Amino acid sequence: MSAPEPRTAREMLELGRTFLARKGVEGARREAELVVAHALGLDRLGLFLALERPLARDEIARGRELLTRRGKHEPAAYLTGRREFYGRTFHVGPGVLVPRPETELLVARARARAAGRAGLTLLDLGTGSGCLAVTLALELAGARVTAIDCSARALEYARANAARLQAEVEFLEGDGLAPVAARRFDLVVSNPPYVDPAARATLAPEVREHEPPEALFAPAGRPDHWAEHLARAARALLAPGGSLLVELGFDQAPRLRAALAELGLPLTFTRDLERVERVLEVGPL
Ligand SMILES: C[S@@+](CC[C@H](N)C(=O)[O-])C[C@H]1O[C@@H](n2cnc3c(N)ncnc32)[C@H](O)[C@@H]1O
Repeated sequence: MSAPEPRTAREMLELGRTFLARKGVEGARREAELVVAHALGLDRLGLFLALERPLARDEIARGRELLTRRGKHEPAAYLTGRREFYGRTFHVGPGVLVPRPETELLVARARARAAGRAGLTLLDLGTGSGCLAVTLALELAGARVTAIDCSARALEYARANAARLQAEVEFLEGDGLAPVAARRFDLVVSNPPYVDPAARATLAPEVREHEPPEALFAPAGRPDHWAEHLARAARALLAPGGSLLVELGFDQAPRLRAALAELGLPLTFTRDLERVERVLEVGPL
């Protein structure tokens, strides 16, 4: 970022907003607030209380560095190193998916399915930052939670998040359900990669250029791969009375309804606040 030297937080904010807008960053004002606040070690409210404070040299340098990175469309959560999920802070960075608000619906549905049952066994397939596994370990009384990911980097974040938030989770590295072959669970949750690789160009640069491809793109170019695979495995994977909850992309539900009909399973498609059929629910079996 090469711009005039800001003297106050207000000036840095204004320069940052103009710079990010020029770089095509969406919501440039909000993003500049977030980045400048982080550079100055403040939260958003603190920033507004400190707008007229003169800046130190190292604050200016840090602000410039972070705004330059944001201008290259690095996700804000990678710059701040954290993202809120279901009321808790998860640490994230390059190599792990940033938790999305829509995934909180999986937590709500898992809590509803678990209501009145203590000590459930739960599996989270594709745990990423551990946002689902850790949240459910803390929200469900006595739950015994296992989480799988194929990415060693993601598992480092997940383990650190679990330790910091004091959640007990068994983390396993491996491919799909292989690490838990022959085990059964009362609840299985998954937010698997479901983006069609053919739609790569439609993704925001923050996602396309910076988030890990293995967290985004469905294998073999089939967005429905994991939802179908898990639904077909449900009878072997779920304990009696168990349920499976899988997050879906915006257009998957009609295809899955047709493809899974032959299995004769109890299926529900739960809509999110945008009316998208966001969660495939199988069970209770
Ligand atoms: C969409 S991300 C979800 C991360 C996290 N659960 C969340 O909701 O933010 C999918 C995760 O699945 C993992 N993954 C992809 N393919 C996998 C496989 N074959 N076996 C295990 N994990 C896989 C990725 O590494 C990534 O962390």
